[in-house]
Amino acid sequence: MVKISPSILSSDYGKLDNELKRMEESGADMIHIDVMDGHFVPNITLGAPIVKCIRKACRLPFDVHLMISDPYKYIPDFAKAGADIITFHIESDSDTQKTVDLIRSYNIKAGISLKPSTAVEEVFPYLDKLSMVLVMTVEPGFGGQSFMEDMMPKVSALRARAQKQGLDIDIEVDGGINSDTVAVAAKAGANVFVSGNAVFSSENPKQTIALFKEKASV
Ligand code: DX5
Ligand code: ZN
Repeated sequence: MVKISPSILSSDYGKLDNELKRMEESGADMIHIDVMDGHFVPNITLGAPIVKCIRKACRLPFDVHLMISDPYKYIPDFAKAGADIITFHIESDSDTQKTVDLIRSYNIKAGISLKPSTAVEEVFPYLDKLSMVLVMTVEPGFGGQSFMEDMMPKVSALRARAQKQGLDIDIEVDGGINSDTVAVAAKAGANVFVSGNAVFSSENPKQTIALFKEKASV
């Protein structure tokens, strides 16, 4: 199923309640929350207390993308704050299996994310315990970058591997998604599309999200 997950990195952080409502009314399927610690990536955004506060503002699932060095340590905070899916980076310092197990122990969905330079095979041993794999299509850290089309073989390999194992897994792409690249990524096998700039800077997010869904339906 095609899902659009607008990233609040491109929203007005001073008006998060309204921004979330605006996305809900525009047909978003999830809300992508980029958590950055200034260490794993060269940028700082927000933490679990903010997630807890904005949880009341909309009913959509919270798709929390942790770009932090030690995700294991902070899983309880984000789980209690109301995350529905927690995705962490396989390149982080935390033990991958333990972190997946910890997320699942809170009855929430676990995802693993891969930076552009990480081989897709690294995630294969964990696939049967994951709800989602996030293939980064930019270097993590900032919104508004250009889509890396050379990540598409990773998406295709992942889709093929999941099918071979009989797993109905979500494959999410994040970075540089627009009305052209959404179709490219969908063709490769992605079904969840994060979009920061393209959706939030759109004059009509409802139309943009509808267009993305149409272009992604292959
Ligand atoms: C980048 C973040 C992305 C970012 C995408 O590190 O993980 O979620 O917000 O923004 P756009 O869609 O503008 O590339
Ligand atoms: Zn993200």
